Amino acid sequence: MCSILLLLGLVVLAYIFRQVVVIGKSCKSNAKLHGKTVIVTGSNTGIGKATATDLAKRGARVILACRSKQRGEAALEDIKRESGSTQVVFMQLDLGSLRSVRSFAENFLKSEPRLDILINNAGLYMMGRTEDGFGMMFGVNHLGHFLLTNLLLDRLKECGPSRVVNVSSTAHNWGRIDFDCLNTHKALREGTSLVESLGVYADSKLCNVLFTHELAKRLQGTKVTCYSLHPGGIKTELARNANSILQITVKNLGRFFFKNPEQGSQTTLHCALQEGIEHLSGRYFSNCTARNVFAKARDDAAAKKLWEISERFCGI
Ligand SMILES: NC(=O)c1ccc[n+]([C@@H]2O[C@H](COP(=O)([O-])OP(=O)(O)OC[C@H]3O[C@@H](n4cnc5c(N)ncnc54)[C@H](OP(=O)(O)O)[C@@H]3O)[C@@H](O)[C@H]2O)c1
Repeated sequence: MCSILLLLGLVVLAYIFRQVVVIGKSCKSNAKLHGKTVIVTGSNTGIGKATATDLAKRGARVILACRSKQRGEAALEDIKRESGSTQVVFMQLDLGSLRSVRSFAENFLKSEPRLDILINNAGLYMMGRTEDGFGMMFGVNHLGHFLLTNLLLDRLKECGPSRVVNVSSTAHNWGRIDFDCLNTHKALREGTSLVESLGVYADSKLCNVLFTHELAKRLQGTKVTCYSLHPGGIKTELARNANSILQITVKNLGRFFFKNPEQGSQTTLHCALQEGIEHLSGRYFSNCTARNVFAKARDDAAAKKLWEISERFCGI
């Protein structure tokens, strides 16, 4: 009898832990978005697709900014079907190519009169180099989004109040920015071991937080605000390029400790939609709540330096 009660107690505790700690809070905003335009990068799968679906259900015109035409168009059909919206559009964007970012921005600015919310969601965990010779995670997770945001900033300002949402990760806590390495090798770290590749991912996510910190300062006096966030641990395809041991670990831990993509989109939606958070521009959120970050993630000098080197790399 005692062991049955103990087992029951453990099951209840596990259930409460999963609901409160793993799944956490949901975006409470009831905002409707008819007449508003949103871009979601990397929206053919994972958190981005769930985010785009929610925004389409709210009536937004949603631009799926994805690198693969085939995957992007398949997602377009799914999202239209699930949301019942016809206001969903695929536009090709490869964040690993500055040429592609420029061409996306040019097409978007020519064809779409508004931009109300830019969600820089795409990300990858993968070593290698981008088309322009940058470290892959630096190039895609940070630099591509840096250029994209800068090219779209005037349109965001014209349409204010508007927002930029940068999907970072709690991994940023383990990151660092080695500016010498960036200058010399156009990459955040050298080396290709598992530890180094995890380090580079963390560094690129620290770039997201520092970029948001500096962007908020530069946006003061405008009606554009910006936020960075950790979505939680989510069952997605993010580990698809990791080695098999890491993939198996993530998959098994994920069964209990990770959220599904819809649950994983809640903090992104909170930052994109929640009324009254404008005074928190530049801050980092997790579980739909603004969080304090370590000094390195709100380091004014590092954020400015990252901005300046990114401008130089992008030629702007
Ligand atoms: N999953 C988690 O537990 C977790 C935790 C913390 C933070 N995050 C962050 O959440 C964001 C979304 O990741 P996810 O978990 O949803 O991963 P995912 O399922 O792998 O989705 C990533 C998306 O980014 C796109 N992408 C990758 N490289 C790109 C490029 N060069 N140009 C344009 N799009 C590109 C992918 O497109 P393809 O399908 O064509 O590759 C895909 O649509 C990322 O920024 C990630 O760092 C995730």
